[in-house]
Amino acid sequence: QAKNLFPYNIMLIGFMGCGKSTIAKYLSHILEMEDLETDDFIVKREDMTINEIFQRKGEEYFRKCESNALKELETRQGIIISCGGGMPMRDENVELMKKNGKIVLLTASPETVYDRVKYSNQRPLLNGNMNVEYISNLMEKRRSRYESVADIVVNTDQKPIHAIAEEVVSKL
Ligand code: S3P
Repeated sequence: QAKNLFPYNIMLIGFMGCGKSTIAKYLSHILEMEDLETDDFIVKREDMTINEIFQRKGEEYFRKCESNALKELETRQGIIISCGGGMPMRDENVELMKKNGKIVLLTASPETVYDRVKYSNQRPLLNGNMNVEYISNLMEKRRSRYESVADIVVNTDQKPIHAIAEEVVSKL
């Protein structure tokens, strides 16, 4: 009965390993809202893994897929959308995202991110660059964009999932 507490979409953004997918699933459960990930959406559409898309078609192609995914989701309401880490880097995406819902930025230190993603081989930008320094540099390049797009910011370092989710909800 608690469905559609929020009359807008909740868009989770942030660097790889900041917990977007995990928090989206948790929020989906407690708010009884559907959640989806733009990465999953693209993987299904393209019938390739994220790695395969980057390898066979290149990053630019993937970025276009991301914009297309956002456009297709424009008509949806009351859902939680977990965005790939690079989504807010394109201006056209930012416009769509702002129209589409509340933007929640999840943050974490480079060390935390490294710990969370170090065994992942499904993050093409980090394949061969899996170290704190690389993560820290890329994060720094993206920081101001992430911050300028966000309506709400929640740090996820050393916090249990439920505490992060509760903090998000309290700020919505
Ligand atoms: C990317 C983040 C990934 C995925 C792709 C590119 C990025 O998603 O979209 O590998 O540019 O930051 P996650 O943030 O869910 O890892």
